[in-house]
Amino acid sequence: MQYDSAAGLPVGAGPGLRDIVSEAAGFPRLIRTIVRNLIEAWPAEVYREGLVEARFIGRRTVFVSDPVLIRSLLVDQAALLGREEFLTRSLSPVLGKGILTSDGERWRHQRRIATPVFRHDRIRAFVPAMRAVATETRTRWAAKGPAQVDMLSEMMRTTFDIIVATMMSGESGLETARFGRAMNTYLDQATWKMALSLLGAPAWTPHPGSVRGAAAARYLRGTISRAIASRRASGRCGDDLLGLMLQAHDPETGEGMPDASLVDNLLTFIAAGHETTAIVLAWTFWLLSEHPEVEARVLTEIGAACQPGQGPNLEALTYTRQVVMEVMRLYPPAPLIVRKTLSEVRLGSTRIPAGRSVHVPVYAVHRHARLWAQPERFDPGRFDPARSAGRDRYAYLPFGAGPRVCIGMNFALTECLAILAELLPAFRAVRAAPSRPETRFKVTLRPHGGVTMTLSPRGQPAP
Ligand code: HEM
Repeated sequence: MQYDSAAGLPVGAGPGLRDIVSEAAGFPRLIRTIVRNLIEAWPAEVYREGLVEARFIGRRTVFVSDPVLIRSLLVDQAALLGREEFLTRSLSPVLGKGILTSDGERWRHQRRIATPVFRHDRIRAFVPAMRAVATETRTRWAAKGPAQVDMLSEMMRTTFDIIVATMMSGESGLETARFGRAMNTYLDQATWKMALSLLGAPAWTPHPGSVRGAAAARYLRGTISRAIASRRASGRCGDDLLGLMLQAHDPETGEGMPDASLVDNLLTFIAAGHETTAIVLAWTFWLLSEHPEVEARVLTEIGAACQPGQGPNLEALTYTRQVVMEVMRLYPPAPLIVRKTLSEVRLGSTRIPAGRSVHVPVYAVHRHARLWAQPERFDPGRFDPARSAGRDRYAYLPFGAGPRVCIGMNFALTECLAILAELLPAFRAVRAAPSRPETRFKVTLRPHGGVTMTLSPRGQPAP
């Protein structure tokens, strides 16, 4: 694709709050759009073109949908990019300056320490804990009998319990349910912080849920601080995520992570890790129920991968993995990657000045008319190695790309397979509504109103 602008993009300061209000004559309208669903405000060209410059939520924004330019931006020129303030401002009250919300040397130092913790062999060691939590979900479902459930809530509970079990195994004093509710309370109101920050309003501006959000942030940070202190006091490290992080060192400087950064990062792993994975799983159950032939193939594969006395060999679930990848193409839980240029960036022959917002609209790239045949169609065969061989790596970005690629990618994929392998053979989930749930951008891309499905144990007729 060629999307060159010989003249380059004009250089100019971003608008202030007053400009935006007069320009759009509609602060309430803008804020409604952001809080309702930011994606609806994207220009239609992002689904058809490679490089689009538009005024978006009152500020000049560059959208990059061309895989070649995405690589150039996120990989080759990554050092020229920083975090957008709206992301850090909405998440920092709870995540501090952890890996997700920091930049520069502070980010590099933390990323170097945490990267080995997410190595393949470490993740493999977490599989029994993942399976044990999935078994609890299966037992809970069995106790319900045939029942209607919100699959999103079911999966949120399962992935939350998994992240807590793998991070702080056996930590006494952690009230899991209360902790989960506080995390959701915080994330639910974070979209308001994002909206106000995008519109240039000061950080202290009150908004719906702000008092509850602040209380939730205090509770979450206090709880994790106490868990770290008690682990240190016990003199044991343990081989869960907390233990591994306590022992980890920066390979360049030899320094470990101070407790304040540990709090930031453990909360980051919980926030970044559980809802995203739950969304993928909820959509997987839904799409399998729409496509019984795909579901049958997945069940056969899981059956064939079973090992005596253990769960299925997850490495053998190649088709199931393709299904999960296709689910994330259609419904990427992180539908937007945002950056701010710290200095001039070049995309092809287009120059983008310092201080500009640059967005990679992942949801649109995954449905781009020039990149995917019949983009709206659910077709796990797209990820068959034979069919995907010629595809540009940067046409598919559910976990981002470049140095800031998701650190938990293998954790999430392994977790999805472990949960599906445990639950799918035991239960049939049938969609309980005629059409797919709508999606809404709420930091992640959530199915709006949940994912209502009817569960019945396999071998029994659906109710
Ligand atoms: C299906 C599940 C998941 C999806 C779709 C997902 C997606 C993403 C994406 C797109 C990014 C890059 C954001 C950017 O470039 O601005 C990211 C970053 C990150 N993710 Fe994930 N993630 C998932 C699961 C997890 C899990 C399980 C963890 C941890 C246990 C995790 C921890 C992180 C962290 C710490 C970052 C920041 C990395 C950095 O900036 O260096 N994620 N994730």
